[in-house]
Amino acid sequence: MKSILDNRPQLAKQVANVAEVAGYLWQKGWAERNGGNITINITDVIDDEVRAMKPISEVFEIGKTLPNLKGCYFFCKGTNRRMRDLARWPMENGSVIRILDDCSSYEIIADNPVKPTSELPSHLSMHDYMISTGSGYKAALHTHPIELIAMTHKPEFLEKDKLTYLLWSMIPETRAFCPKGLGIIPYKMPSSVELADATVAALSEYDVVMWEKHGVCSVSSDIMEAFDMVDTLNKSALIYIAAKSMGYEPTGTSMEDMIALGKAFNLPK
Ligand code: 13P
Ligand code: ZN
Repeated sequence: MKSILDNRPQLAKQVANVAEVAGYLWQKGWAERNGGNITINITDVIDDEVRAMKPISEVFEIGKTLPNLKGCYFFCKGTNRRMRDLARWPMENGSVIRILDDCSSYEIIADNPVKPTSELPSHLSMHDYMISTGSGYKAALHTHPIELIAMTHKPEFLEKDKLTYLLWSMIPETRAFCPKGLGIIPYKMPSSVELADATVAALSEYDVVMWEKHGVCSVSSDIMEAFDMVDTLNKSALIYIAAKSMGYEPTGTSMEDMIALGKAFNLPK
């Protein structure tokens, strides 16, 4: 079967990276059934032939008007599709969409009419925000990391930046590679525009945000980086839990040492 990826090595590489990360999410145990979703902004590797492609679906509403997305193209995981299937067959479990000129609707153009993730309002709002800031970020990931989610079931950890400092203090990598920390969004209805709006508001301060008792969203230049930040944060959560299960409260790196690390590596916080 003909694919939009044929003779488009840059696009094929980006989709291959999504598939690779989808496999990691499944291996990590973060992707039960259809849990989690990935979208990437592929507009800069789209050519005139793709721009001229006819839609293969009806027009769908996003639920929000996102002015920076006019004419943009995204590869999206399909709703109700499994990460472990996306890993093996990305074009059967995801699709390429085009945002229409009203900036509030989209159509599917390739390869199959796979309806995008139910969290599209959040994903597209994140992309719209990332364009508005000139960040150059192209990837958005939502996943269900076990230990990080478990920590949101303790009210104390929902206080602003409590988890950020705790997780930073478990291992220097987390301070260095997740330098803006972890924002927390109080529980909201999955797939809702309200959740999308809260997510975007949190992105002004953080690159990774936690949806209380649900999962995290991470944004970055590419999907590997977005995955790595969540992986690093969850590693810290695992170290914390390992210490607790050995029967003690971990000491954690001192605030002074965390500040020194921030200065030494010129970190944003
Ligand atoms: P989708 O299958 O629609 O992507 O939903 C999975 C999910 O994690 C919802 O929050
Ligand atoms: Zn989810």
